Amino acid sequence: MKPEMERLYNECRGCKDCELAKTRNNLVFGTGNDDARVMFIGEGPGETEDRLGEPFVGRAGQLFDRMLAGVDMERKEVYIANIVKCRPPKNRDPLPEEKEKCIHWLFEQIEIVKPEMIVCLGRIASAVIIDADIRISKDHGKLTKKGDTWMMPMLHPAAVLRNPSLKPEAFNDFCILRDKLEELK
Ligand code: URA
Repeated sequence: MKPEMERLYNECRGCKDCELAKTRNNLVFGTGNDDARVMFIGEGPGETEDRLGEPFVGRAGQLFDRMLAGVDMERKEVYIANIVKCRPPKNRDPLPEEKEKCIHWLFEQIEIVKPEMIVCLGRIASAVIIDADIRISKDHGKLTKKGDTWMMPMLHPAAVLRNPSLKPEAFNDFCILRDKLEELK
């Protein structure tokens, strides 16, 4: 881990800035290569993530890993984090105040990783990072540039698990990502 990421992690571990700190089992800070070309951002930890302290390790995470493998990428080469670092009880959406209090950790992670591309998984992360008015069902897979960084919303793998007919569309987003990374080389 880069020393500045380690410093941030140690600071974040003690965070009690919102109510979610009271019910978490583990903080889910983020994982992967902190020098990655691409950073994936989800919404917040679920039950498995809260238990293990790692993002995207439950059923949705396993589907995410398979799609990544489908474009010859591995999770250890990318960086993965969430909008909120602690699990919202019963997997409810994070509240506006929770997102506001937590987002600075993510912005600092982005500063440290300096990815060429940011991929937001699902509506909530896309709305915070890319565009508040995003319509994920029609906007997923569309690339935009903010400053020096390419941004792309993707369907959330949990949504694909709920509706498997979305799989080809979801995988196509990974193909768009792979092609963009190739083009940027
Ligand atoms: N869903 C998310 O948005 N993030 C995780 O870490 C796991 C599931």
